[in-house]
Amino acid sequence: MSRIAYVSGAYVPHRQAAVHIEDRGYQFADGVYEVIAVRGGKLLDEEPHLQRLHRSLNELRIPAPMGDAALRIVLREIVRRNNINAGIVYLQVTRGVAPRDHAFPKSAKPTLVVTSRANRRPDPRHWEGGIGVITISDIRWKRCDIKSIALVSNVLGKQQAREAGVFEAWQVDSDGRITEGTSTNAWIVTGDLTVVTRAADCAILNGVTRLAVLDIITREGYRFDERPFTVEEAKAAREAFLTSTTSDVLPVTRIDGAPVGDGNPGPLSRQLRAAYLAHAAIPT
Ligand code: PDD
Repeated sequence: MSRIAYVSGAYVPHRQAAVHIEDRGYQFADGVYEVIAVRGGKLLDEEPHLQRLHRSLNELRIPAPMGDAALRIVLREIVRRNNINAGIVYLQVTRGVAPRDHAFPKSAKPTLVVTSRANRRPDPRHWEGGIGVITISDIRWKRCDIKSIALVSNVLGKQQAREAGVFEAWQVDSDGRITEGTSTNAWIVTGDLTVVTRAADCAILNGVTRLAVLDIITREGYRFDERPFTVEEAKAAREAFLTSTTSDVLPVTRIDGAPVGDGNPGPLSRQLRAAYLAHAAIPT
């Protein structure tokens, strides 16, 4: 079955899907995106993803390409036409096509692209043994709360992690505090079993998975604290883990090559992973 993409009003074969060379996303990374998980053919946490999309669009003063009701139909139609049971939907909105000029164009129509693909089979070693992260300097801009398509710093960070043979790079601000991964949020569990993650300030993306895990933490009555934590604190933590739409909850068992706790996925990370998978209705 051939893949289908949605590009500004039309469903087209994925291979022929294209935007104009003067699209501002292409020239300026002037756009935003969302990645939504598909589980059992359904969109997981669609509501908070759409809320975050609107927030990002508002912050960049890009008009919504269509109303929410229509957008929901397009998202479903892309899942249906690509016959996705477990996978992701990627949606991107840019300010549109206009002759290159930094200031906003007077009359550009936002470009909307929606694609979908089945999940790559996740590696069970990632949750059975946990994954490693390295720490790197956070060289990004000061509005990481916006889900901008300008991701070159994240690309460089992830590549550094790959070359170091680990899953993710945790970015560190100028005060030595961890902001987040290149495509994931960062968490630790302290010695007194408090779950800690940075508050959703402008230095991180407020992950939809992060919000779902915070809900679970509140519901289950775990101790938690939304505050920044340093690299030293992370290395001395009892447990660590990361969250994202594509990774769910993954235990972090090595930071810069040193084991976290006893070097195995901790019990709290395991419990939160199981609770999140139940929320996402994925068989554990
Ligand atoms: N990444 N932080 C960053 C910088 C991210 O890019 C992401 C998501 C997250 C986690 O957000 P969420 O839980 O809503 O997925 C945190 C997506 C998956 C991506 O770029 O592919």
